[in-house]
Amino acid sequence: MSGLYCLLGPVLRSLDPETAHGLAITALKSGLMPRPAPVTDPRLRQKLWNLDFANPVGLAAGFDKNAEVTDAMLVQGFGFVETGSVTPKPQPGNPKPRLFRLPEDGAVINRLGFNSLGAKVVADNLRKPRRQTGPIGVNLGRNKDSEDAVADYTAGVKAFAGLADYLVVNVSSPNTPGLRALQGRDQLGRLLDAVKAALADATPDRPPALLLKVAPDLTEADKNDIAEVALEKSLDGLICTNTTIERPDNLANSNKAEQGGLSGKPLFEPSTKVLADFYRLTEGKIPLIGVGGIASGADAYTKIRAGASLVQLYTALIYKGPGLACRINRELAGLLERDGFANVADAVGA
Ligand SMILES: Cc1cc2nc3c(=O)[nH]c(=O)nc-3n(C[C@H](O)[C@H](O)[C@H](O)COP(=O)(O)O)c2cc1C
Repeated sequence: MSGLYCLLGPVLRSLDPETAHGLAITALKSGLMPRPAPVTDPRLRQKLWNLDFANPVGLAAGFDKNAEVTDAMLVQGFGFVETGSVTPKPQPGNPKPRLFRLPEDGAVINRLGFNSLGAKVVADNLRKPRRQTGPIGVNLGRNKDSEDAVADYTAGVKAFAGLADYLVVNVSSPNTPGLRALQGRDQLGRLLDAVKAALADATPDRPPALLLKVAPDLTEADKNDIAEVALEKSLDGLICTNTTIERPDNLANSNKAEQGGLSGKPLFEPSTKVLADFYRLTEGKIPLIGVGGIASGADAYTKIRAGASLVQLYTALIYKGPGLACRINRELAGLLERDGFANVADAVGA
């Protein structure tokens, strides 16, 4: 943990979680955060979708919903940043409180419900001059009051196709009624056809990679269907996974009764299982991003060996602070070296 965060972390965690998050964003925007020494081990480099990743550890969607601190998080040591979810129109999300810490469990529960400043503001933020290089993904959501989900995703594609290195069709957040039904075989096929057509229209020359983010709460039949559709539609990647609506028996904090998606440590095992399932079902033909409960280099390494070409995290940042990406990268480089892997790609699914 960085020196400053040793002091600031307990203060932030004594505040209501959304207030603390807002302060963290303000601090990152101010440019006053300490700059950790970058971890530049060549073993950590990854190349995917014609993009260069200095390291495989990304910031998961939800932290920087409005593309306010993408560069600042790259400076904090992340190899890539996913902004969003962004909805076409601005919307406030669910009533507060809607974000709950479960510190004993290393977890949080959120039911934010896609609070978003909307595509226009987020696109304007992404057009600002960059100070830092590193791939930026844009995660697309739908408005709660929209009657046409497909139109919302194609609107997102139009708004961000020229601004993002990769786009994510997010049909897996548990806090927008009906959203996860879009993971069903027929609906998903139709949605991806429309999204791909919009993408080809918007960026015929150099389209960004197109990824789908899935839930951890899928039946075997769901997983089979999604894998088949992903292969059939030549998706560029799958992100495994979003938060879970399950509540493991061993959760300690009383906030476990709150509704919403659970993330962090209790999600590690189930999301890694879903990741491994998709690696098997897609026969390693589609790059996977592993996310759910990563808090250490060993966790990241486990996801990579289960089939992830890249990883992401969010919840552990809340408990461990901004030095975490660099620490995970240092630990991961050590593990790759220990086991004789020349780079991340060699360890994927090994
Ligand atoms: C507060 C919060 C907000 C989130 N918002 C989004 C979101 O808008 N879109 C999305 O695809 N995932 C969202 N997620 C899910 C994360 O991107 C990630 O998939 C999940 O939290 C598991 O990773 P973790 O255990 O490292 O947090 C959110 C997670 C949290 C904790």
